[in-house]
Amino acid sequence: MLEKVDKIEKEALAELETVSSNEELHAWKVRYLGRSAELGEVMQGLKDLDAKQRPLVGKRVNEVKVALEEAYDERVETIRQKELSRSLKEDRLDVTLPGRAQPRGRLHPATQTLRRIYAIWADMGFQVYRSREVETDEYNFELLNMPAYHPARDMWDTFYTSREGIVLRTHTSPGQIHVMRERTPEPIRVILPGMCYRYEQITARAEIQFNQVEGLAVGKTITFADLKGTLRAFAQRMFDQDVRTRFRAQHFPFTEPSAEMDIECFLCEGVGCAVCKYTGWLEILGCGMVHPTVLRNGGYDPEEFSGFAFGMGPERIAMLRYNIGDIRMFWGNDLRFLEQF
Ligand code: DAH
Repeated sequence: MLEKVDKIEKEALAELETVSSNEELHAWKVRYLGRSAELGEVMQGLKDLDAKQRPLVGKRVNEVKVALEEAYDERVETIRQKELSRSLKEDRLDVTLPGRAQPRGRLHPATQTLRRIYAIWADMGFQVYRSREVETDEYNFELLNMPAYHPARDMWDTFYTSREGIVLRTHTSPGQIHVMRERTPEPIRVILPGMCYRYEQITARAEIQFNQVEGLAVGKTITFADLKGTLRAFAQRMFDQDVRTRFRAQHFPFTEPSAEMDIECFLCEGVGCAVCKYTGWLEILGCGMVHPTVLRNGGYDPEEFSGFAFGMGPERIAMLRYNIGDIRMFWGNDLRFLEQF
């Protein structure tokens, strides 16, 4: 009996060496360790052995069983490793499989509108000039023809800082003085884009921060007709080739005369709707001929030079173009909004 058990062990281990697939492994296990395996038969036959032999054979059978189980586990691991290195070596990358999609970012609607505005003005020969967001009271107001305590300052609710005389710019107009002082006596054609800040109650129509695009042209023969023609050309490029425009008288301390330009409401085509508040017109910018005092403050002699200036709000233009009802969407960082552009 003992010889038989030894023979089974030898045979099983030898066969295990030749096993190379998972199917063969399984078959081997059924054959040598399964319920109807030969070792099981030996165990069944124990009762027929004599009392001296019985414990010896029983012990041996158990030893062999443990040895076979260990050998089996080892073989499983070897085959797994072999399979892994084979597939690393032989399997090629399947380039026909679809890749993992990367989420695509996009430009903020305010940035998109700004870039459109830059492109249009660049076409008409205007350079981009960047100026500071933290300004002095002098540049933000005084040099723009608004001395201290001048009531016109009430047009801008201002963020004052703890430093006397330092404010967050309420508009891009102070940049006009910076450019003029830098360029005098050369002619000027620039736009000045950037963030402005106002101490406002935040509502659907008012934000504490927003972009503006200021424009400035200074030269020897610039007239109000140049202002009108240039701004109209801008509106045609920005909105539509045959958009209707109109100029309305306004007051700004830094221009004289001053105006606002409206375009015909493109939603109702002038008939009147909720967006244009039933007027048929949409206001898109403020403008005017640069005030002689401002020219002088910039270092230009108003007897010799003249100029026009304008200021527009790109977020407002985007709101009109895309029919956005709430200005708070712009800095709310809500992807559901941003992903629509
Ligand atoms: N700075 C004005 C504002 O913030 C806008 C403006 C109006 C700018 C007329 C100009 C201008 O350059 O000529 O409301």
